[in-house]
Amino acid sequence: MAAAETPAGAAVPSPNELERLAAEAEAAIAAAVDRAAWERLRVTWLGTRQGRLRALQGLIPRAADKRAFGQAFNRLKERVEGALAARDEALAAAESAARGDRARLDVTLPGRRPRVGALHPVTLVARRIEEIFRGLGYSVALGPEVEDDRFNFALLNFPDDHPARDAQDTLFLGDGRLLRTHTSPVQIRTLLARRPPIRVICPGRVYRNDNDLRRSPMFHQVEGLCVAEGITVGDLKGTLEAFVTRLFSAATAIRLRPSYFPFTEPSCEVDITCQICSGAGCPTCSGSGWMEILGAGMVDPRVLENCALDPDRYSGFAFGLGLDRVAMNRWKIPNIRLLFESDERLLRQVRD
Ligand code: DAH
Repeated sequence: MAAAETPAGAAVPSPNELERLAAEAEAAIAAAVDRAAWERLRVTWLGTRQGRLRALQGLIPRAADKRAFGQAFNRLKERVEGALAARDEALAAAESAARGDRARLDVTLPGRRPRVGALHPVTLVARRIEEIFRGLGYSVALGPEVEDDRFNFALLNFPDDHPARDAQDTLFLGDGRLLRTHTSPVQIRTLLARRPPIRVICPGRVYRNDNDLRRSPMFHQVEGLCVAEGITVGDLKGTLEAFVTRLFSAATAIRLRPSYFPFTEPSCEVDITCQICSGAGCPTCSGSGWMEILGAGMVDPRVLENCALDPDRYSGFAFGLGLDRVAMNRWKIPNIRLLFESDERLLRQVRD
């Protein structure tokens, strides 16, 4: 049957014949004594116009069993290519030995060190803070950077005419949307989504219309929130002490100064022992021995009510701090913008 389908005169080799051809090619190629011989063989077998493989390929459509022929052809091609590559390597090795390349390979030269990347200082600080609070039983909650007035202000007990909306220099997006000016809206989202006891920290980017040496239009905060039955200022203070002694050093003390935030009552600013002079007094702390690091307070009962929680039953504390400030202190970075310019000269110097 196969013979009947094959036009007379055009010999289509059998798979076995292709096998023999492969052996023939391998033997010839392995015996190529130099580059010129190798090149002649390459053209003979693989030449794109006159090569023997090209001619055989042209026979595939006429083979009785195209599948068997095609497979045998592919095996042949692989073997020819393999033999050429092997011989090429052997010839190259011989040529390089002849040139005396071995003398040029100096194994005593120092190796080339790969450049190792590192985490961004703000990421390092955020991770460290997350780790500390995870140890205190907190989990991490995240919220969107585009918020609306309700979450960023209203439910946090900012009255409609409160100047904070201006004082915080909000970046408005239109359609009632805005870039969150702090991470406090994540408090609201958490209180609406979960039942107490709640212990979360909320790291993230925040935005304000500010721009100077210490302020960038985009910066980072971490919010902390703890709400349960019977939470007191004592819990707030103890938590903050545990936090700063782990983040800075065991010798770091805290000091609470009365302050005001619409979403906490009472509210305070929290100072820590100046990390530059250890409390002795220096230009960085204006001689006071303290530096301000965060805002905090007891969650205002109205915030709890706004989130449908009974303030007679539940109480809690909250705090917020700037991650960029912590990073700047920790690595003595004088200008906040250095953190956001992706300048490798800075990033290379910061290691945990
Ligand atoms: N949201 C405040 C700010 O951006 C920081 C803050 C202060 C957060 C006191 C709090 C807090 O949770 O209790 O300036």
